[in-house]
Amino acid sequence: MGEKMWGGRFSRKTDELVEAFNASIDVDKRLYESDIQGSVAHLKMMAREHIISQEEADILIKGLGVVKEKIEADEMVFSDELEDIHMHVEYALTQICGDTARKLHTGRSRNDQVALDIRIYLKQETRSVIDLLYRMQANLIRMARNHLDVVMPGYTHLQRAQPVLFSHHLMAYYEMFKRDINRFEDCLKRIDVMPLGTAALAGTTYPLNREYTTRVLGFAKVSDNSIDSVSDRDFVMEFISHAAICMIHFSRLSEELILWSSSEFSFITISDAFTTGSSIMPQKKNPDVAELVRGKTGRVVGNLVAVLTLMKSLPLAYNKDMQEDKEPLFDTVDTLKICIDVYARMFENITIHKDRMLASCKQGFLNATDLADYLAAKGMPFRQAHSVAGKSVAYALEKGKELDDLALEEFKQFSDLIETDIYGFLSIDQMIARRISYGGTGLDNVKKAVDKAAGELGLK
Ligand code: ARG
Repeated sequence: MGEKMWGGRFSRKTDELVEAFNASIDVDKRLYESDIQGSVAHLKMMAREHIISQEEADILIKGLGVVKEKIEADEMVFSDELEDIHMHVEYALTQICGDTARKLHTGRSRNDQVALDIRIYLKQETRSVIDLLYRMQANLIRMARNHLDVVMPGYTHLQRAQPVLFSHHLMAYYEMFKRDINRFEDCLKRIDVMPLGTAALAGTTYPLNREYTTRVLGFAKVSDNSIDSVSDRDFVMEFISHAAICMIHFSRLSEELILWSSSEFSFITISDAFTTGSSIMPQKKNPDVAELVRGKTGRVVGNLVAVLTLMKSLPLAYNKDMQEDKEPLFDTVDTLKICIDVYARMFENITIHKDRMLASCKQGFLNATDLADYLAAKGMPFRQAHSVAGKSVAYALEKGKELDDLALEEFKQFSDLIETDIYGFLSIDQMIARRISYGGTGLDNVKKAVDKAAGELGLK
């Protein structure tokens, strides 16, 4: 390979171990497409501004097409000696186009080049994450719509609290993913900034037309400060932190699916295609997908900590430390995408056990608040009503009964205000129907929320 591209001032060969240590090609080779795209735009701009001739640009653009084909045909030899994807592409171009290729790097540094490559890559990936999240939301909406008649116990402290519509519970996740989408869309604005042409850190002496490069590459705006352009990785930290929050949402959903599919709950069955067996216990059917997603949340949170720590205290402008940003970023993108994808599919393969959910609503005094509300509606101050309901619960517990199993005379020991209408009042249907406050679990509310969500997604 001969002299290194930066070898001019060096008199000794790089130590072999240092060469391997310094190289990032194993990781950053996946940026080849963005890298080539950036180079093509740079060449077009240089030809337009007469920094190189149109003929030279044409030759090199064609050559870059060949380099791309070579990489895609798996014919490119990657070696630590050439450090990273930027030098591999340039070296391959030199082999195809000869000395003309040496003009490609005019007015450019790997510092602005790598910043551009990551932005091109991440713009695309952020959009596909958003699309996947829409798919997940669509599945939640579909499931919510098909199960509007299912009631489940709502929990606080993982103790049965009050009955809620299962669809209402599902739509809580719709809201979380909606916020995730908003966050990713918002961070897209800051990813969509074009840094090329800021060179090493100070800008360059060539009459680069950065606005033109920005248009060619389809970026929303050009970066304003050359020093910031090469040292900014906020968009990486932002993306990973949004990804971590999104994974935390999936981990919470996972935890629920795992609980719900246990014999103790038996609220759902996850299809065989999305569960696995045990090599020793023949009866087992494990919710591995949900468990793995819950587990993978850890690595995304870890990636966030890695990148934050990597950037902490870095002086301006580019520092080689920043080469370490790609592994956690790529791992985050890959992990997040596969988790959403597998989840969206799994959701189409879950059976809901309506009767089991309903049965759970009938045990554990989920109507105790409603007894208090009943008394309050009849004029008793709520605090006193709460205490009467509490005493009734203690009494029922002692008798091994639920509140609606108590005879009217038994209720009457606690308050004269209680009449036979109490039984209808404490029924699950009426409890749900009464929760009409905006955002509550009343059927009308939930139907409207599901329709609104379907409208937001353009679903019929
Ligand atoms: N491989 C490097 C990275 O990923 C590219 C930029 C290197 N710049 C430099 N001056 N050594 O950060």
